[in-house]
Amino acid sequence: MADPTLSEVLAQARCVVCVGQGGVGKTSTSAALAIEAARQGRRTAVLTIDPARRLANALGLPEIGNIEREVPKAAFEAAGLEAPEGKLTALMLDIKQAWDEVVDSYHPDPERKQRLLQNRLYEAMSSALAGSQEYMAMEKLYQLSTRTEDRLDVIILDTPPANHAVDFLEAPSRMLDALDNDATRWLLEPYERRRGIASRIFDAGSGLFIRTISRFTGTELLEDLAELLSGFQGMFQGFRDRAAAVRTILAAADTSFVVVSTPSESGLVDARAFRDRLRERQLRVGSVVLNRATPAPFLAGEAPAPEALARALASTPELAARLEALAMERAEEALAHREAAEELALETEGCAVVAVPQLPRDVHDLEGLERLRQGLFAPPPQR
Ligand SMILES: Nc1ncnc2c1ncn2[C@@H]1O[C@H](COP(=O)(O)OP(=O)(O)O)[C@@H](O)[C@H]1O
Ligand SMILES: [Mg+2]
Repeated sequence: MADPTLSEVLAQARCVVCVGQGGVGKTSTSAALAIEAARQGRRTAVLTIDPARRLANALGLPEIGNIEREVPKAAFEAAGLEAPEGKLTALMLDIKQAWDEVVDSYHPDPERKQRLLQNRLYEAMSSALAGSQEYMAMEKLYQLSTRTEDRLDVIILDTPPANHAVDFLEAPSRMLDALDNDATRWLLEPYERRRGIASRIFDAGSGLFIRTISRFTGTELLEDLAELLSGFQGMFQGFRDRAAAVRTILAAADTSFVVVSTPSESGLVDARAFRDRLRERQLRVGSVVLNRATPAPFLAGEAPAPEALARALASTPELAARLEALAMERAEEALAHREAAEELALETEGCAVVAVPQLPRDVHDLEGLERLRQGLFAPPPQR
């Protein structure tokens, strides 16, 4: 059976997860995929992780945060583009707000909840804890995909930069383990019994964890820490239940992962590694996007160089020679990128492999996203 096109992959998905290294174009690709899904007439939300807020600008929104915002149809029209038929909304993960929401909606005990939210270490913890971003992205995904009002047809999920495909999948449980491990339970025990923590810390039998951190922090801070951790008690089962529900969503038949990479040698090594790690876990790799491929310098049917350029070239043989050498270099690179994409497609059955050209400018507005979308969904050039 022929491999699906990216358009087909998108049409069949309820959840699309873009993964890849930092800076390869995950956030831009997520937005372009979301615009395409909305153009397919589907109610679409794109959840991005882009503290640089480039995406808000690109989508023509003054700002986006944890609250979903609709990308107004007028923004497309103002950019001279056809507005998508489906409703398109965007959210950007704000870690602190996401923690607040989760604590607020799920904490079982109102008094402890307030103490937790006011704890001196709470804010620092919510952003500094490793895996916090990935965990909260999953909480948001859970929230978006299980809501019954204003149901979505498709959710496009951008992910934090990752060195390995499994980072995004494993970070949440690593974070939960760190919050809920033996050392923290040890720390909580005396606090819960209100025996004062200091005596325990300096006990001959104290654990290594406590002895180590008490060297760097005062006991007052440890009291705060104990209170912080005790504030989470009663929430762990919910954390773990929702993380498990999200794992089920990610493994579902209507979820597709899109691996974004560059067509360079190291990019291809990454793309293959991401693809293989995801497949080992029985996750569906719907597409590999090789972004920023060198475009062929001369496309069939392209207009000839402007006359002025031709005149300059005719009168300056040295310029012409340099241009020719540059064009040949480009052509070779373009061929290498196209061949890499073809080879990857051959060895990756059931997956849409797409080479997206390097655009002349960064993707910073709807027009840029439109060019990226065309690169993603344009039919392959005739050979
Ligand atoms: N095909 C492309 N051509 C030109 N610039 C691109 C292309 N794709 C992405 N960019 C630019 O590259 C930078 C990184 O893209 P981004 O989507 O933020 O990557 P990531 O989310 O993976 O870190 C941005 O400045 C973006 O505008
Ligand atoms: Mg990004």
